[in-house]
Amino acid sequence: MDSSPSEQAGEQRLQKILAVAGVGSRRACEELIAAGRVMVNGRRARLGDRVDPRTAEIYVDGERIVTDTTKIYLALNKPRGVVSTMSDDRGRPGLADLLGQGPNAAPGRPPLPGRVYHVGRLDADTEGLLLLTNDGELAHRLTHPKYEVPKTYVAEVPGPVPRHLGRVLKQGIELEDGPAKADSFRVIDATPRKALVEITLHEGRKHIVRRMLEHVGHPVSRLIRIQVGPVRLGDLKPGRWRHLTRTEVSALYAAAGDRSPGAGLSRGAQRGSRRVEDRRNVG
Ligand code: URA
Repeated sequence: MDSSPSEQAGEQRLQKILAVAGVGSRRACEELIAAGRVMVNGRRARLGDRVDPRTAEIYVDGERIVTDTTKIYLALNKPRGVVSTMSDDRGRPGLADLLGQGPNAAPGRPPLPGRVYHVGRLDADTEGLLLLTNDGELAHRLTHPKYEVPKTYVAEVPGPVPRHLGRVLKQGIELEDGPAKADSFRVIDATPRKALVEITLHEGRKHIVRRMLEHVGHPVSRLIRIQVGPVRLGDLKPGRWRHLTRTEVSALYAAAGDRSPGAGLSRGAQRGSRRVEDRRNVG
């Protein structure tokens, strides 16, 4: 049978698109549309709507639902010694190697099919969570100073850590390129000689955590980023990556100040929605 003009244009039924994106069964998605909880390109959707999943901006209860199946969102645990570039002209291991795409890629793991770009950087000596995506809009928002999302680090520093250190860092200190301040600070573990501290801040200047802690007399010997906005490193092993869940991608859009029509729509109607987690979670 010949396909209709809208199918030829890449359009599909909205409930099918939402179901494929993992929002729920087709039936549940029909109910969401009928209840007026779905916005498409700034307008409330209606049952029977057909849209192009590659280009439509879709929100359910104010949460961005990415339906373009060519979009890739990854969390990577960058080990110490790996540079935060796809490839390095000095031949050091880079991010492409960890994705199975570089000259130093470990054998035996299938390469990630598709190109992604890292969202911001970590120092070569810093370990932990790095996000990668081919979604230029989200990457831009996550790195733009206007939207900078909070990032949390665990640092190993010389002890003892005085009780007032958190207050000093939260009030703000003066670095050579301007003031810097922590959103939160706590000591996780301490012996007289060594301490593990957790620090959260929402800016991305170069070496910022190392410089702040050095400034207050506690130079960092090990630094691990454990969270970026709503995304946690969790138990991801060094050198491994995973796909973000649909919920994490929606939460990243929200954390990065999504103000599009449809974003942040009343959540009152959320009760009873049948949500399922993204099943694309590859290790
Ligand atoms: N702050 C640092 O000092 N280094 C990083 O890699 C990230 C934040």
